[in-house]
Amino acid sequence: MQSASKKEIILKTLKSGNWISGEVLAIRTGITRTGVWKHIQGLKQEGYQIKSQNGLGYKLLAVPDKILPHEIRTGLKTKILGTAIEYQPSVPSTQELAWELALQGAPEGTIVLAEQQTNGRGRLTRSWQSLPGAIALSLILRPRLAPDHLPIFPLLTGVTMAQAINQETALNCQLKWPNDLMVGNKKIGGILSEVSAEPDQINFLIIGLGLNVNTPPQHIPHDLKDKATSLYLAGKQIFPRSRIIQSFLERFEKLFDLLKSQGPAPILEQWKALNNTLGKEVEIMRPSGSIHGLAKGIDNKGQLILELSSGALETIIAGDVKVHQA
Ligand code: BTN
Repeated sequence: MQSASKKEIILKTLKSGNWISGEVLAIRTGITRTGVWKHIQGLKQEGYQIKSQNGLGYKLLAVPDKILPHEIRTGLKTKILGTAIEYQPSVPSTQELAWELALQGAPEGTIVLAEQQTNGRGRLTRSWQSLPGAIALSLILRPRLAPDHLPIFPLLTGVTMAQAINQETALNCQLKWPNDLMVGNKKIGGILSEVSAEPDQINFLIIGLGLNVNTPPQHIPHDLKDKATSLYLAGKQIFPRSRIIQSFLERFEKLFDLLKSQGPAPILEQWKALNNTLGKEVEIMRPSGSIHGLAKGIDNKGQLILELSSGALETIIAGDVKVHQA
């Protein structure tokens, strides 16, 4: 675990919500009171509202809704994930930047975050619009696993993000096979899993996650209004994005460890408990054409088993799914 910076120690102390004297902060950080004052000015510039008063010290009044690295690191209970964070206010795509960093040797667990993407990538070579107030995150993994484990990673990501959302909000986020995070029948987020692999080993995996968190209604594009929503819109309140990211990383790390020790079974069980697809009539849109059937189950690689009207079973590796509500 990376040791906390002086700024992070000051922030963590202020987050008690009490008045904290400059002297206490100086002792905790091992710097002078002037040094503390400089960090406080830096925090204010990042958008933290901090009151100062002679004789009392400093009091934190409000935290900005930004996905700042120290906001994520403060209190993060992981061993590896998120200990290295690359944060940019704006990038073409966090996925693209994560690829560059991975090729330069960035360690497993590095995350790339941006407030804005100008050229976000979606599944099936589509583009992804990063809306204001959203999370755009890419995670670098270097699993020592055979490439046949790859299809499980989007499911693992979906499970851990849906669980994080359900813990941090009162919403019921569900998973649509293979990669969509849904609230009701609207998409709230998506997952893009990209890999550099040899026939017998994975070099690295980049997991991209886009999630509409505090996106106000006016920023949901008109043509997506029937299909997409945000946590803010569905839950009628602002949710701290850094807390959602922390919860996601903590859960992801645990389930990733479980995958390495026990294989995909625990992930598949948790995915089944959260999915909105199995047991329903679905239409799968693939480049080769559409196919209808009953979503019968998923196999141990996370692939969808479709029962056709003839009764024949077909394994679906990828595609876009339309779930017909009963
Ligand atoms: C989908 O098509 O549903 C998947 C969308 C994945 C979008 C995320 S946002 C963060 C990361 N960077 C990208 O350019 N794409 C992924």
